[in-house]
Amino acid sequence: MTQATISRLINTPDLTVDPSTPLGKIQAAKRPWDAFPVPLVKPNPLSIKSGAYRAMQKCIALAMALELPVGKWTLEGSTGLDEGMKAALLINARDEVTHYQAFKYLQDAYQVDPQDIEEVENYRDALIDTDFHPVLLSGFTELTVFFVTLSMIRKYGSDEAKRVGLYVSKDEARHVNTNFYIMDTLGITLDPWEWSLLDEIRVKIIKWLTSDLSKADRDYWMAQSDSLRKTRKAPGLEWTKDGLIEPFFEGRRAY
Ligand SMILES: [Fe+2]
Ligand SMILES: [Fe+2]
Repeated sequence: MTQATISRLINTPDLTVDPSTPLGKIQAAKRPWDAFPVPLVKPNPLSIKSGAYRAMQKCIALAMALELPVGKWTLEGSTGLDEGMKAALLINARDEVTHYQAFKYLQDAYQVDPQDIEEVENYRDALIDTDFHPVLLSGFTELTVFFVTLSMIRKYGSDEAKRVGLYVSKDEARHVNTNFYIMDTLGITLDPWEWSLLDEIRVKIIKWLTSDLSKADRDYWMAQSDSLRKTRKAPGLEWTKDGLIEPFFEGRRAY
């Protein structure tokens, strides 16, 4: 998304979706939040040895390279749709700007290597090259890649990163529901060969993201992405519903 598109999107008067419609019911789950600064995260030896710190840097790089393009696809996909669908997609595209801003703070906190962002830009270009419907590209990326990276952030991240992961996850769950509802309603689908093109890119992304982790962890995250792709569900990620933010007396001691 260009700066002009972002400004136009942010300045769009408040959008509403009829609350009695399926899309309105999905939007009712929206809880507005703003990006917040995150203090520098100093990796400890354990998080370096386990690959957790490196995995965090890659998850953040992925968000830096894909949040705004997903927003752009969401906007592009709204062209020609009815008012309700259009409003829902514009609201969701606007969320991606907040996500990008939040990840920008995390990029600084985790001193993300620009080369990692460039790596993800190659995967982004491969997704664009498929030329599939933009709503499908958004929904696919959010469901099979973002749900995995956000869960990784909720496992490996600092307290503040976990909080960002929680807020973004809630938005993405709404986006996925919106995008798949629209795809189902409009009959947007792919044949098995076309799905295999997307799967090839997805598997490459997940392998790259998790390559510094143990074999067991690499297999676990790939299995979650596979499950999300095949069933739109991941029973293996149920733990993300547990209490995520530690009580203050159990949190990192800064004194
Ligand atoms: Fe997002
Ligand atoms: Fe999204």
